[in-house]
Amino acid sequence: MTTKSQGFPRRTALMGLGATLVSACSRGEAATGDTLPLKSHVSFPLGVCAMTAQVNDPQWASLIATHFDRITPEWEMKMEYILQPDGSLRFDAPDRIVAQARLNGQSVLGHTLIWYAQDGDYFQQLKADRRDFETAYRTYIRQVMSHYKGQVDGWDVVNEAIRDDGSDLRDCLWREVLGEAYIDIAYRAAHEADPACPLILNDYNLEYYPAKRKRFLKLVEGLQKRGVPLNVLGTQTHIAADLSKGAITETLRDLAATGLKIHLSELDVSLKEAAKNALDFRNYRDAQRALYEEVAEAYTALPTAQQFGLTLWGLRDEDSWYNRQNKGMVADEPLLFDDAGRLKPVGQAFVKAL
Ligand code: XIL
Repeated sequence: MTTKSQGFPRRTALMGLGATLVSACSRGEAATGDTLPLKSHVSFPLGVCAMTAQVNDPQWASLIATHFDRITPEWEMKMEYILQPDGSLRFDAPDRIVAQARLNGQSVLGHTLIWYAQDGDYFQQLKADRRDFETAYRTYIRQVMSHYKGQVDGWDVVNEAIRDDGSDLRDCLWREVLGEAYIDIAYRAAHEADPACPLILNDYNLEYYPAKRKRFLKLVEGLQKRGVPLNVLGTQTHIAADLSKGAITETLRDLAATGLKIHLSELDVSLKEAAKNALDFRNYRDAQRALYEEVAEAYTALPTAQQFGLTLWGLRDEDSWYNRQNKGMVADEPLLFDDAGRLKPVGQAFVKAL
């Protein structure tokens, strides 16, 4: 597990580095790691997501190596990639990411074992027999966790378990066959496979929907009461630039009240989602900057012992999943670096607020 060496006083350091950062960018130079490793501004692990296709891009690879402590595979550690219809497992792509991270001296976060959005042919075929299904479910978790034992900082065990309206757990194949216990079973199986590995419960829209957050926290309370091994709460923080001020701060405070560690796990702030179809981002840039600043301030205000880390969902705007989904349309600008690999003004503001 990564423990960063004690961070130097952040604000003092920033006075110097912030100045370097602004002047480098105003001269139109690429914000290279020589002058401003983002990770040196924080005392918790700073992460970013990655796909194997990006590992061969020299600009991406060099920026990642410079600025980040930790990598989360964006897609290739998910069941959809690893599990084949015959039940066999493929680890080639995620292994590549893990190897690259090791070369860079970075750690890796496992993402994700059980997700309502991915079940796959193999499990669909088994659903008529609960016993076989449960055995296969435990086996999948055990095999994947064992493969990466000692090589990851933690695992998102169950991803996105709660309905957006907060009324209940989501319906999914796992719940259909195993009942609500599917969550307990997953965490217990994960803990058996790698008892030292921090286990994370990850979800999204917790800042948008207080009812969802309440249901999420009720699930956490239940897991804790039943003695289910759970160490970290992940709040994805895929937000749009028009999110109300204060929502992030309140969410982090509510989650931290559990005493568990908090992972701000998939941060991006979409301009396009805020502008809807207007495609005029101008009115939202200030709001985007203010939200990035709020995230930085609220996260760094958490007790140090609860700061599991902060992960950005992509490096450059062109790397964002929003732009991959809408190819050919006007590009969103949700991230901290522009397509040329320069830290954007919003990135500078974020770093200053850390
Ligand atoms: C997304 C990736 O960014 C895409 O590349 C992939 O096709 C689908 O998943 N919540 C999550 C992430 O937990 O795994 C999702 O990532 C974004 C929403």
